[in-house]
Amino acid sequence: MDSYVFPMKTIVTDFPEEAASFILSGETAAFPTETVYGLGADAFDAAAVRKIFEAKGRPADNPLIAHIADIGDADRVADFSSRTAQRLAERFFPGPLTLVLPKRPDVPPVVTAGLDTIAVRVPEHEIAQALLRACACPIAAPSANRSGRPSPTTWQAVLEDLDGRIPCVLRGEPSVVGLESTVIDCTTDIPRVLRSGGVPLEALREAVPGMQGPRDDPGGVARSPGIRHRHYSPAARVILVDKAPSLSPREIAGYIGMESPGEDAGSDSGERWRLVERVATPEAYAHRLFDFMRRCDAAGVETIYCQTVEPTGIGAAIMDRLQRAEKGSAGRSLVKR
Ligand code: TXA
Ligand code: MG
Repeated sequence: MDSYVFPMKTIVTDFPEEAASFILSGETAAFPTETVYGLGADAFDAAAVRKIFEAKGRPADNPLIAHIADIGDADRVADFSSRTAQRLAERFFPGPLTLVLPKRPDVPPVVTAGLDTIAVRVPEHEIAQALLRACACPIAAPSANRSGRPSPTTWQAVLEDLDGRIPCVLRGEPSVVGLESTVIDCTTDIPRVLRSGGVPLEALREAVPGMQGPRDDPGGVARSPGIRHRHYSPAARVILVDKAPSLSPREIAGYIGMESPGEDAGSDSGERWRLVERVATPEAYAHRLFDFMRRCDAAGVETIYCQTVEPTGIGAAIMDRLQRAEKGSAGRSLVKR
């Protein structure tokens, strides 16, 4: 099969070997990782990798991440001679980190959207590891959502977006981190965070003191092509608030944050909160955020109020996703009732 005919049958399996048999026969399979679920194909099979773009509706200029079982496989896809990259890999692989490195010429251009660099990641997740070992090939994989939607952190969320568009979902537990990996450009003299994520900047700077943050160079944003595209957006409008609202919302609304929102009980001046997710820690916030956005969409929520957090540690990645979601939903008008 050269390209997908939608809809197709999507199976859900608990067996990495079964998902591997799809990938080894030129198909795609979604799989769990500790960050979010990915949609994978054999990185050396250009036709299979094209199916990822088709299933997601992903712009062809947005490169994928090559997932490998351990750092010993990096040479198959990338030039891994950078000392900085080696130091970061030693410290953070396997884990929620992705390194952009010079690409090996034999990796098909579709994987990297024609770039001569390639993003490489070693996931820690046991099932992802089992899949990679069963395939014995690098797996090119973006997050397993329809393009523009929040990344899926459960196998059910993968189905919500891709049922009928991919042949296989490998089932696991909800992703522990809940936000995507930190992406670092290791191709320049001074490594730079292109996308904040599961490994905080503070931890990266302990290993590499000169590490540049994502906002230190506004021009650097364009270097990660994915950053240009609309991302992480639920259908609902997203509004960031520094404090939890003290009154009931005027519209059908959801709220996520570390403080509880108020409610003017019995009053008919407003709605009650349709969905509330109070999270105890920034880690729990990261873990729950994308799932909460999806639950709000399913519940017909019009506006999601998200409490801001300190942009330190995992909080930096949370604020990055919240700001993108707010920007992606700006201009969406409130449904007046
Ligand atoms: O945690 C994750 O990273 C998940 C799991 C499945 O591994 N994957 C993921 O993939 O989030 P995706 O495609 O949704 O995001 C990959 C990001 C995009 O922003 C993309 O532009 C960037 O990495 N990227 C990929 N290759 C790149 C390259 N050669 N140079 C710069 N940025 C690159
Ligand atoms: Mg993505």
